[in-house]
This record gives sequence, structure tokens and C-alpha cells, in this order.
Amino acid sequence: MIISERIFDPEKLPNDVLTIRPQKLEEYIGQENIKKRLKLAINASKIRKEALDHVLLVGPPGLGKTTLAHIISNEMGTNIHITSGPILEKQGDVAAILSNLEYGDILFIDEIHRMNKSVEEILYTAMEDFQIDILIGKGPSARSIRIDLQPFTLVGATTRSGLLSSPLRNRFGLIMELDFYTVEELSLIIKRASTVLNVEIDEDAAQLLAKRSRGTPRIALRLLRRVRDMSTVTEKKKIDVMMVEEIMELLGIDNEGLDEVDRKILTTIIEVYQGGPVGLKSLAASVGLSEDSISEVYEPYLLQSGFLARTHRGRVVTSKAYKHLGYKNGGGLFDE
Ligand SMILES: Nc1ncnc2c1ncn2[C@@H]1O[C@H](COP(=O)(O)OP(=O)(O)OP(=O)(O)O)[C@@H](O)[C@H]1O
Ligand SMILES: [Mg+2]
Repeated sequence: MIISERIFDPEKLPNDVLTIRPQKLEEYIGQENIKKRLKLAINASKIRKEALDHVLLVGPPGLGKTTLAHIISNEMGTNIHITSGPILEKQGDVAAILSNLEYGDILFIDEIHRMNKSVEEILYTAMEDFQIDILIGKGPSARSIRIDLQPFTLVGATTRSGLLSSPLRNRFGLIMELDFYTVEELSLIIKRASTVLNVEIDEDAAQLLAKRSRGTPRIALRLLRRVRDMSTVTEKKKIDVMMVEEIMELLGIDNEGLDEVDRKILTTIIEVYQGGPVGLKSLAASVGLSEDSISEVYEPYLLQSGFLARTHRGRVVTSKAYKHLGYKNGGGLFDE
């Protein structure tokens, strides 16, 4: 199964998602260093009339990797074909996509770390020489044929670059690690989106929403939609701080932006493992989540915001976490 779309295919995405998504690098808020590097690389390849070098986008979910992939194709003026690691099961799947690419097209592979080995190996020569060798037939009559590809750009997205094998990682000319967004940046994203969503929001309310969004645009926009629901129902035209606070309480999001799962992870380490260190496997089993979702979805923000620390012996909670969760003592031992 391939999800292939032309750049401006309005059918593909529901209602306002397409309009909220920035289309150009200039409209993309934050990630200044990435924008500068991309702009340079894009301009250079346009002058040389070459396909852009392969790009690897790395970062926790919801930071704007998919958005950036679309922006790259917009800026290059080429088509984007979208697929994801787990969808590409057989060599034939990826060979079919690759041989259909036109000069300079973007192939976006989301969750590129979840590809199987045989699919990955086809990509090696595709990325390096724009050629693939595929096996036709079975048994003694099987033979390998070589297919020439049009020069294309692979844009891969992954949550951590360490999840990629080094041969694959090394074939990306541009590796970009996305950072969590600042409150100011998120508040800009919220204000921009509120115009598209046709709702007014106070400066203070936008700031507060931004603070509770765990540095993540997708969360900020999801929360904005919930507050907008409230403004619709209560017929209040402008979103204010009180409305934001009410929604936060309803959703169980505290003043640090942590939700129930975040707090459960921290309290489990405190109560079951005396603050840690605890290994990922045991923690996942105690909390009832998969190891992947702890390490890729929840942990990055807890680490970055100083509630959790990683030592060579495992995860430990910090004194900031003890304090935030209302525990009196402890914390001193494993303080950073
Ligand atoms: N820098 C940004 N400026 C404005 N809006 C942004 C920015 N980054 C992301 N967004 C918005 O946030 C939402 C989530 O972004 P996106 O889908 O690109 O995330 P993602 O990093 O691909 O996440 P995932 O890894 O889970 O797929 C989108 O609706 C997008 O419009
Ligand atoms: Mg995405």
C-alpha cells in the first residue's frame, strides 16, 4: 500500500489540517538552525538543477517532521510521495515506488527506523547510485535485473537517529535534529492557528496554552482545538486564561504540562523503585506501556524538562519531580 499524494491534494487531509500546516520555510516557526541549513541546501540544488541531498529528520513525535517534508517539496517545486517504514514490507514495494519517481521528487519515509532489513538494503544503492538490483523469479531460474532511477531525494523521519543502522544513516547528506519549541514559539504557532481556526485568543491565554504544551506543536494545536470547543459551546468569542485553565483541569494536564501518563511514570519510579535507577524494561512493565512509547513519546520531554535523568544504570527521578508531585523527601540522593 502506498500513500502517494501530489503537493496540493486537498482531498487527502481533513478540514483545516492543510491550512494550519505552514507551506513555506518562512512560515515555519522556530528550528532556526534547521531552516538556515535547509534553505542553503535547497537554494544550492536549485541553482545546480540537481536533486536535493537526502535529508534525515530526527525528533520526538509532533515536532513538525512531516510538515518539514512537505515544505521541502514545496520549496523544491517537486512532487512528494509519502510512505512509512512499517508499510514497506517487501523489496518489491519499495522498488515499485522508487521506479515511479520523477527527477527531483521527494520520497518521504516516516518511521524509517521501522523498515525491515531487505527493504533497507534496496535503499542503499538507490540512495547512493540511483540504481536498484532486484531479483526476478525463484530458484535456479532467478536472475537479478538492474533498474536505473531518476535522481530523487529521500526524506526520512525518525524519533532517534540511534535507531537507524549506520549504513543507512551515513547515506543521508543532511541530518537534522529537531528541538522542543520554546513557549514564545509555541505561542506564535497557537496564534497563527487560531486565525485559521477562526477563533480569537488573548495573549495571556496563548502563552498559558503554550506553557502546557510540552514543547510540542501538535499538542499545542490539539489543546487549542479543545479550548475552541469550549468557546463555541459557551458562545464566548475570545479564548481567555480561565477557559484554558478549565480545559487543562478537564484533561488532567498540570501546570508543568504533564498529563496522567507522565505523572504515572514518575510516581511509579518513586514508589516502586524508590526513585530509581530503573531499567526501561521493568519500568514499562510496571507502568503498563510499551518500551517504545516510554522512550520515544514520554521520556524525551521528561528528560528535557528535568523531571527525569538517565544514568548508565537506568532512569532516575530528580528532586524537581519529587517536589512537583508533592513528595516531601527523597530526591536528594539522585539530584542532578
Ligand atoms: N514549526 C512549526 N510552525 C508551525 N506549525 C507547526 C510547526 N511544526 C509543526 N506544526 C504543526 O504541528 C502539527 C504537527 O506537525 P507534524 O505532523 O509535522 O509533526 P511530526 O513531527 O511529523 O510528528 P510525527 O513524528 O508524530 O509524525 C501540524 O499540524 C503542523 O501544522
Ligand atoms: Mg508525522
